Amino acid sequence: MKINLTLDQREILVEYSKQVMKLGKLLFELLSEALGLNPSHLNDIDCSEGLLVLGHYYPACPQPELTIGVSKHADNSFITVLLQDNIGGLQVLHQNNWIDVPPMPGALVVNIGDLLQLISNDRFKSFEHRVLANRRGPRVSIASFFSTGLLPLPRLYGPIMELLSENNPPKYRETTVRDYVAYFHKKGLDGTSALSHFKV
Ligand code: OGA
Ligand code: NI
Repeated sequence: MKINLTLDQREILVEYSKQVMKLGKLLFELLSEALGLNPSHLNDIDCSEGLLVLGHYYPACPQPELTIGVSKHADNSFITVLLQDNIGGLQVLHQNNWIDVPPMPGALVVNIGDLLQLISNDRFKSFEHRVLANRRGPRVSIASFFSTGLLPLPRLYGPIMELLSENNPPKYRETTVRDYVAYFHKKGLDGTSALSHFKV
């Protein structure tokens, strides 16, 4: 569905994207340090080069038990920064149980995506999540994906060399972000992991 934004809304979206980009760069610095790498490492390999900001609109649903908002998936990004309103419905899969991620005013949710799991050789895990349908609504969320899937970047991503050793060999083969995302979409949100396709 195409929605025409007013000028004010466009300005807000542009400003929001800029702020999310700033936050993302900082998060990638912290994540690099957590991996024992130079703080600029993940930004240097273009993890923050592409940002896709997606607005979700979930209408109120009279029979939420018959359907789902978004079915189980892990994000096809390096990381995703999610802003949700106060309706709720986001859940993460933890040890085979669905756990609510309740909305907190002013808080953002940061997801590790499949691409960060791949380059960190499983040191960071992307987690599966879903969104329930809700009698209350509409629910609105803004998902900001750090991914270069829409850019024709030739860079190949595999497990980061510095993290590998004899005891920790690469678990994934190299891929471009584009090829990874193409596979993710071809497969669809069928509840299986796109990442496993790239396992060695
Ligand atoms: C997504 C997603 C959750 C939400 O867009 O990948 O998981 O709360 N969105 O809308
Ligand atoms: Ni998601």
